[in-house]
Amino acid sequence: MAPHADLDLLSQSEQTPIQEHQKAFSFEDLEDLGDHHLPGFENRSHLQYTPVEELHDLLCVGFGPASLAIAVALHDAIDGTDASLDVPGLNDRLPKVAFLERQHQFAWHAGMLLPGARMQITFMKDMATMRNPKSDFTFMNYLFKHDRLAEFMNLNTFLPSRVEYEDYMRWCASWFDEVVHYGEEVVKVTPEKSASSNGAITTFNVLSREVDTGKLRSRRTKHVVIATGGRPNIPKPFPSNHPRVVHSSQFQHVSCKVLDKPQHPYNIAVVGNGQSAAEIFDFLHSNYPNARTRLLIKQGALRPSDDSPFVNEIFNPGRVDSTYSRAPALRSTSIKEDKGTNYGVVRINLLEHIYETLYTQRVRYGNTSEAEEQWPHRILPYRLVTDVQQSPAIKDGIRLTVQDQSPLYLSDLPNTQERQEILDVDAVFVATGYHRDLHETLLKNARHLMPGGDLEDAKWQVQRDYKVHFADKKVSKDAGVWLQGCCETSHGLSDTLLSILATRGGQIVKSIFEKGEGADGSRYEELRN
Ligand SMILES: Cc1cc2nc3c(=O)[nH]c(=O)nc-3n(C[C@H](O)[C@H](O)[C@H](O)COP(=O)(O)OP(=O)(O)OC[C@H]3O[C@@H](n4cnc5c(N)ncnc54)[C@H](O)[C@@H]3O)c2cc1C
Ligand SMILES: NC(=O)c1ccc[n+]([C@@H]2O[C@H](COP(=O)([O-])OP(=O)(O)OC[C@H]3O[C@@H](n4cnc5c(N)ncnc54)[C@H](OP(=O)(O)O)[C@@H]3O)[C@@H](O)[C@H]2O)c1
Repeated sequence: MAPHADLDLLSQSEQTPIQEHQKAFSFEDLEDLGDHHLPGFENRSHLQYTPVEELHDLLCVGFGPASLAIAVALHDAIDGTDASLDVPGLNDRLPKVAFLERQHQFAWHAGMLLPGARMQITFMKDMATMRNPKSDFTFMNYLFKHDRLAEFMNLNTFLPSRVEYEDYMRWCASWFDEVVHYGEEVVKVTPEKSASSNGAITTFNVLSREVDTGKLRSRRTKHVVIATGGRPNIPKPFPSNHPRVVHSSQFQHVSCKVLDKPQHPYNIAVVGNGQSAAEIFDFLHSNYPNARTRLLIKQGALRPSDDSPFVNEIFNPGRVDSTYSRAPALRSTSIKEDKGTNYGVVRINLLEHIYETLYTQRVRYGNTSEAEEQWPHRILPYRLVTDVQQSPAIKDGIRLTVQDQSPLYLSDLPNTQERQEILDVDAVFVATGYHRDLHETLLKNARHLMPGGDLEDAKWQVQRDYKVHFADKKVSKDAGVWLQGCCETSHGLSDTLLSILATRGGQIVKSIFEKGEGADGSRYEELRN
């Protein structure tokens, strides 16, 4: 299941003009068109369409923010507007690049695009500013082009709404329509039989499946970037395919169908203590006034995310070097120490808002523990769901068996025991985070090139420049695979976030194109001379 909701669920009338434009312009059309017949885009990047059958220089799997940042850096490098990206060969021979994205248009965690949700990061950490403030792709330029610069300034904030930031990224993405193939899900990346004299792999085959038709398509390339983001973590005992057990990533799309009567007195559970769980809990309170919602958290309280300035320096692009160089045990300890900047935590203003909501219930419904049992919205601490069954009490509902350790922590009496409770609910929203391991599946056919790849639990490792570390001499220097967004254990907590994307996109472009060889055999280095 995708962390991004499938935007098939959006009705035509809900689509923006850009989305409609993107849909109208499919790669099928491109295959029938020569380059000179391409439709004129309002904003067109320097990257140009490459026919499917041609050997590519670079194929990027997934077109989320990480790949978008690479596209932007490539454009800037060709444009010559970024002194840090001096790869002149790119101008002499445009690289043959394509991005394969399974969604039908650009969308950023659309299942969690809740009204009022704000960015967790300053807009200056956009797709370009940190690398090249003069780029076309800065958030400031987006505001300028949309004639909102002055009004945005009047908001007096560094944190735009998520809706606006997604619109910004969609606008950036629209520049690359010619090279992005939407509605294609990559299923595997396979090294091709070597044509080189020393037997080293020089090309990869990327197999994708058209989401609508199931049709398979192969492309060949020298370089692959895998930037597929996270996939939902649905922990046991929750079933992964139950219509009323819904991961947070699907919330916006499924909740309105499962809970289709906003005035109905639904019983709803939310599980998790991160930002997603808190946003969903708050949304339910605001939009289902007669519902009873229960937020089940493992710990004793919701905790605030630490975005204080000294701590926030771990998200500076320059910190990746020292994180990568650190001894592995020390690195893992420091990542754990800093986890409270991002995982299982809630932004303080939302946390305070939820506290106020619960306080209002004290006033309205009573302050005693008996009254609290009846509050419509409650946070239940020290709770762990141990079993999920069909509910005998609610039609189509779910029965949760919950281990309640709160007496051990909160009882006034000594020697209390934990207990079990039963919750019957119409739906449960599981906001339990993400796994970032799809590359392990996609690269299955390449495991024989991995050092120790015959060991079942061996995992892919990357170099500082995110290039996959293959066994010695197995893969040519002019070919390779790069991983994005799944390197937190080696590159630190900024890896899964937006924080360093502008800089990292530039690093990927340099790593691939500065020393590499073009798909037609010409060396980028030579082209420069
Ligand atoms: C609700 C939410 C809000 C967030 N807000 C912030 C924030 O404010 N600030 C911040 O720094 N971080 C935030 N994050 C963290 C988030 O990880 C980053 O913002 C960002 O999305 C990372 O980009 P990415 O490209 O690595 O991954 P993704 O955004 O997940 O993009 C991956 C893309 O790959 C596609 N894909 C996956 N598998 C395949 C396949 N097999 N074939 C083809 N395409 C595929 C997906 O459809 C997706 O479009 C948020 C996360 C969530 C869940
Ligand atoms: N507005 C926004 O910008 C916005 C909105 C939502 C999310 N985000 C971002 O998205 C990323 C993911 O956030 P997230 O909240 O989805 O996930 P998360 O931060 O990984 O939180 C998942 C939570 O689920 C808990 N959990 C895991 N397994 C559980 C189980 N079996 N039972 C009960 N609880 C369990 C975890 O607790 P343990 O850690 O103790 O296991 C953790 O508290 C973060 O980077 C976040 O900042 C941003």
